[in-house]
Amino acid sequence: MDNLNIINDYNNNIDQYISYIKQDNDKKATIITHGCQMNEHDSEKIAWLLQKMGYKIVDNIDDSDFVIVNTCSVRHSAEDKVYGQLGNLKHLKNNSNKDLKLAVCGCMMQRKESREYVVDKFDNVDIIFGTNNIWRLPELIYKNSLDNKIAIDIDENISNNDDLLGADRLYKFKSYVNIMYGCNNFCTFCIVPYTRGRENSREKEDILREIKELAANGCKEVTLLGQNVNSYGKNLSNKTSFADLLYAINDIDGIERIRFMTSHPKDISDELIYAYKDLDKLSNFLHLPVQSGSTRLLKKMNRKYSKEDYLKLIDKIKTINPDIALSTDLMIGFPGETEEDFEETLDLCKKVEYDTSFTFIYSKREGTIAARSKDQVPDKIKHERFQKLLDVLYPIQLKKNENLINTNQKVLVEGLSKTRNDILTGRTESFKTVNFKGDPKHIGEIVDVNITSANTFSLNGDLIE
Ligand code: SAM
Ligand code: SF4
Ligand code: F3S
Repeated sequence: MDNLNIINDYNNNIDQYISYIKQDNDKKATIITHGCQMNEHDSEKIAWLLQKMGYKIVDNIDDSDFVIVNTCSVRHSAEDKVYGQLGNLKHLKNNSNKDLKLAVCGCMMQRKESREYVVDKFDNVDIIFGTNNIWRLPELIYKNSLDNKIAIDIDENISNNDDLLGADRLYKFKSYVNIMYGCNNFCTFCIVPYTRGRENSREKEDILREIKELAANGCKEVTLLGQNVNSYGKNLSNKTSFADLLYAINDIDGIERIRFMTSHPKDISDELIYAYKDLDKLSNFLHLPVQSGSTRLLKKMNRKYSKEDYLKLIDKIKTINPDIALSTDLMIGFPGETEEDFEETLDLCKKVEYDTSFTFIYSKREGTIAARSKDQVPDKIKHERFQKLLDVLYPIQLKKNENLINTNQKVLVEGLSKTRNDILTGRTESFKTVNFKGDPKHIGEIVDVNITSANTFSLNGDLIE
């Protein structure tokens, strides 16, 4: 069956389930999303499916007939949050909302241990599905409606939800687009290869078709999603590279900005570095997670680059593109981290001068190699080092932001500020948040803003009309 027939067949199938299930037109659903952009985009697909099934998506759990919790496993704290939420929902179901249906999905459900714990401890859960089979939700709702028994469906193999499902996107003017699934890297601290499976790229034509449709509907900015976008295309029969894909997207009318998440330093190609020079739509921003500045620890993490390799790469990138904004992920307290290892991390951060950073305290994930290590770092030391790291990172970030004062920046206006309804907020090409006074009519437009002041995490400016 070709792709189009598979999609038609699937749509007929959903319609069939909907005709079985639909009792009234007034059902409401809430989706709670934990984790990364992958999960945010999966929730957009779930919202699309639920709307197709007649649900209205609302924010208020108390007012909902159906709650879906889309979970993340990356750190212990993420899992604990989900257990807390499921506990609260139990209370709701037992008291004020007896007919509430509850589904749990996402990365935690791909892990047997977490899934069994949920089944065992939370008898309020009606449906469980994983990251690879969102498309089966209508069938699971139908099954559960027949016998009121928990309906569970997990698929270990990556299957492509994107070409079957639409997405009810949070924004019309900026969109996530999956270009690949899974990860083959097995960094020794990370659970993602166990929850998202092996790396698998989406066909280039399918990605381009989706982006063309988005552009035709007013999308200006796409963020390409993958755990390691630099190895895009490796498993495809029509060999292609990530850089090839970027060049093709750059040619799509209507798209004005291209972003991507995430690149692994070991796989960055010269082709990609030069693409920053060639492609006018590629944002002047690179998120390049380093994790640690200690070559010894990087080896234990299975990252496959040294501190020197990383610094050389950064030098090359800055030589070709001196204005690029750099961002990273850093991990404190990986097993065996000594004071010297930590000093190496501080040294690397001072040398690179990141514009933004995401800092994490190592969290032991059962099933990963690092979790078996006997030399876990005590919590007190982890927290002290974490603070010292921020004390190095933040003044650099502030200085970088201050360098932008009196410059004009192109800002994609994303909405109103959370605290003031006369202030607009948006992002520069280099992904910095800018707040400025302006009319909400500009939301979704790219406008010019003169930067007047700077903080560690954002900029303020004046709209140039
Ligand atoms: N694929 C991306 C990469 O390789 O850079 C990262 C994806 S991961 C979801 C995002 C970040 O979470 C990682 O870069 C890492 O810093 C952090 N992380 C992953 N496992 C962790 C753990 N066990 N404890 C703390 N942070 C972790
Ligand atoms: Fe996790 Fe490493 Fe894969 Fe990133 S590259 S998702 S950190 S295993
Ligand atoms: Fe993302 Fe968390 Fe899964 S970070 S890939 S939602 S484990």
